[in-house]
Amino acid sequence: MLSTLIYRSRLSPACSVKELNQIVTKAQARNAALEITGILLFDGDYFLQVLEGAESAVNQVYGSIRRDPRHCNLVELMRDYAPLRRFGNLGMELFDTRRYAQGSILEAVLQKGTSRYNLAYDDRALKFIRSFVEGHWRAHLLPCPDSANWRFATRENPFSLPMDLIPGQPCQFALQPIVEPLRGQISSLEALIRGTDGGSPADYFASVAPEKVYEADLLSKNYAFALAKRIGIGNHKIAVNLLPMSLVMVPNAVGILLDQIARNGLIPEQVVVEVTEDEVISRFDEFVIAIRQLRSAGIALAIDDFGSGFAGLSLLSKFQPEKLKLDRTLVSDIHINGPKQAIVQAIINCCAALEITIVAEGVEKVEEWCWLQAAGIQRFQGYLFARPLLNGVPPVAWPDNAV
Ligand SMILES: Cc1cc2nc3c(=O)[nH]c(=O)nc-3n(C[C@H](O)[C@H](O)[C@H](O)COP(=O)(O)O)c2cc1C
Repeated sequence: MLSTLIYRSRLSPACSVKELNQIVTKAQARNAALEITGILLFDGDYFLQVLEGAESAVNQVYGSIRRDPRHCNLVELMRDYAPLRRFGNLGMELFDTRRYAQGSILEAVLQKGTSRYNLAYDDRALKFIRSFVEGHWRAHLLPCPDSANWRFATRENPFSLPMDLIPGQPCQFALQPIVEPLRGQISSLEALIRGTDGGSPADYFASVAPEKVYEADLLSKNYAFALAKRIGIGNHKIAVNLLPMSLVMVPNAVGILLDQIARNGLIPEQVVVEVTEDEVISRFDEFVIAIRQLRSAGIALAIDDFGSGFAGLSLLSKFQPEKLKLDRTLVSDIHINGPKQAIVQAIINCCAALEITIVAEGVEKVEEWCWLQAAGIQRFQGYLFARPLLNGVPPVAWPDNAV
């Protein structure tokens, strides 16, 4: 099957424009051997390359291209399949857009195209080419964050030291900070449920009879709030995960939560309840009734794992939480993935208009954080900053700008 891959990248400061001709000559030979066709556009600063060929060959070459230090800020824009090659006659031709009179470059590129595509202006690949030569794509470009400038330094936190397993509890909790890295602040702690011996959440729920799941879910929060008290949470917020149906199925659920909160010296305003988007939409009407009570009590609501489920942005037309946590599937490798960037930018715009705070979860790479921070997100959770710690708060790795 014929596959197409389009990416954009930027010439590395260390690479001179002169070196480009060398790159192209070698690339043409290699592409010919692998039966890869395509073009490389260059505007003096950025590249846009179209690669087409057998999927395995395209992936092989793209693997080498991604590792090449002569360009940077590489973002994959499109992967698709096509009935025939757009640039079947070219192993890989370089078009320096500066050498063409305005308006003539697109025509020159299309002249090189396999005839059927000369008129196919609706073709997505050609739209990327047109946007590049006309410069419209820059409207979506973020100021390039340079991840190499950051060093991370771990600082201890003001909370009490972690404890071993707490005896006499059906479950334990691990705490993971949600941080504002550029302000050096922990904005909240998420309490993640663990089994009696510190094992996975699945271990805990496997130990609960199916008909008792909602009750157990609700009652377990008492141990999370007790841990918040033990570590000396002060004014920080604590976030707990809750099955929305626990609020519906357990009589007086919100009353029980409020009692747990008060018993542990906390106030409702410092508690965030996180529910996943799939759980919300599966029984939406009942959920709405339950959250009304939560909100009237002063407890904040966050939609967890946003982007991983079925609801997506349409959920926000029905209901707007205080916080929205971007699922790790959207966050992972966002710095090199054009579709994820476009989706997350749409979510950021939407949340800005609705005053919903976004938290990016599952952040593991400096590059992911840099891109998301440049896009406007300020709160982050993930191994890059801190892993969950059983019965305690882990030290956070804070970024310092080294340059
Ligand atoms: C902007 C740009 C485009 C490139 N395009 C290709 C290409 O189409 N085909 C190719 O074989 N190498 C291309 N290269 C060179 C590869 O990145 C790499 O140097 C070459 O494939 C040798 O890889 P290897 O050292 O992993 O074998 C390109 C490099 C740059 C900077």
